[in-house]
Order: sequence, then structure tokens, then C-alpha cells
Amino acid sequence: MASGHTATREKHGRELRVWDLPTRLFHWALVAAVAVAILSAELGVLAVHMLAGETVLILVLFRLVWGVVGSQTARFTEFVKGPGAIHDYLKRSRAGGEAAFTLGHNPLGALMVVALLLVLLVQAGSGLFTSDDILVDGPLVPLASGATVSLLGSLHRLLANGIFVLIGLHVAAVFFYLLVRKDNLIRPMLTGRKTLPARLAATEPRRAPAALALAILATSAGLVFLVLRAAG
Ligand code: HEM
Repeated sequence: MASGHTATREKHGRELRVWDLPTRLFHWALVAAVAVAILSAELGVLAVHMLAGETVLILVLFRLVWGVVGSQTARFTEFVKGPGAIHDYLKRSRAGGEAAFTLGHNPLGALMVVALLLVLLVQAGSGLFTSDDILVDGPLVPLASGATVSLLGSLHRLLANGIFVLIGLHVAAVFFYLLVRKDNLIRPMLTGRKTLPARLAATEPRRAPAALALAILATSAGLVFLVLRAAG
């Protein structure tokens, strides 16, 4: 008969590195950049707001490419699933316990990840064309017509509210998992490591080289820098 310790290990499986360093650094750098962008907008310090927005743009471009060529759990094909998989996940999730644990993002959380990335991309992109109509113009305002600047500026102001809602839902979901589902998602996003049930813990997820992440980040930064330079 298995001892209590062995039974526990069989039930809980083992600790795996589920998130690579680039994905974790991306996440916390994004949190910092978005926080600075929001705070500086509230305080009217627009030079800082624009720098923070450009940082968000570089980070999201990095993440979109990392989602295609990066480590296993960071890839969109790994976690963006159709309605069938979401329905199946919700059924397992209602049963509670470890049946609902997933290696990376769960299929429902994946929707939030994609929504956050897309909304932040549009928000940072539209900010480049936004003017406060008094003193400060986004760096690409000189390249666009008055109508385009007005449209993208309205979108930028409108989406800011959407971002508050998405971030609120995202953080609420993370705490719901922690407090109700007893599934701590925050620790893995900090340390990379998570203890998973045996059915998920058979093999370590594949990790892409950190040098590739650095090359993608440098390319994203270079691209944004070139676009900003082109405007003036
Ligand atoms: C400005 C605020 C935030 C933004 C824009 C944001 C954005 C994101 C994004 C884009 C992802 C997907 C990560 C990836 O696959 O690359 C993610 C995941 C995650 N975030 Fe945040 N986040 C924010 C705040 C927070 C906070 C405050 C916490 C913790 C209290 C948190 C905890 C997590 C966790 C645990 C995951 C992984 C969820 C999972 O395991 O599926 N986030 N976040």
C-alpha cells in the first residue's frame, strides 16, 4: 500500500517549470509599463506617458512573436482553443479540484490573454497618433490627416476604460483561482515553477533559447524606434 507521502506525490505529481524567464519578465515589465502609463496620464505627465506607451508597444510586439516561436507554454497554438475545449474545461472546472489544473493558461484564461494583448496593441498604436489638441502630439501625428488623428484619439480615450475593465477582470480571476479554486497562478508567474498533478507532469514543457527572446525584443525595440524616427 502506498504511504501517505507517496499517495500525496502521486496525486500532486511533481514541480515543473511551466513559464520561461522571457514570458515572466514580459508579464511583470508589462504590468509596470501599463501602471506607469495609467498613472502618468492621470497626472498629465505626457512625456512619461508616451515613453511608457512605447514600452508597452515594444513588449506586446515581442510577446506576439514569442507566442509563435517561443517556449511551448508561451505559444498561442498551445493555449488558444475553440469553444469545444472551453466547454470541456468549464465542465472539469465545475467538478473542482485538480481536474481543472492546466500546464499553462487554461482555455478560458487564454481568451483574456489574447484580449489584453490585442487591446494593449491597439491602445499603444493609437496613442502614437493621439494629440491633446493643445501642446502635446503623439510622435506619428504629423503623418496623419486631422480626421485620422481625431478618430484614433477618440479610440485611445475610449479604450482606456476598456483596459481598466480587462485588468480588473484579469486580477479578479487570478484571485478567484487562488482563494476559491486553491490554484495559485501567481507563484508560477513569479518563479516559473508549479506543482502539477501526475497526468500533466510527465514531461517538462519545451523551452526556447533565451538568446532568441533577446533577439526578438531587440528587433521589436528597433522597429518601434525606426517608426518613431521616420516621423520626425
Ligand atoms: C497592468 C496589469 C496587468 C496586465 C496588463 C496583465 C497582463 C497579462 C497578460 C498579457 C498575461 C499573459 C501572459 C503571457 O502569456 O505572456 C497575464 C497572465 C497572468 N497574470 Fe497578469 N497582468 C496584469 C496584472 C497582473 C497582476 C496584478 C497579477 C497578480 C496579482 C497578475 C497575474 C497573472 C497571472 C498569475 C498570469 C498567468 C495566468 C495563468 O496561469 O494562466 N497579472 N497577465
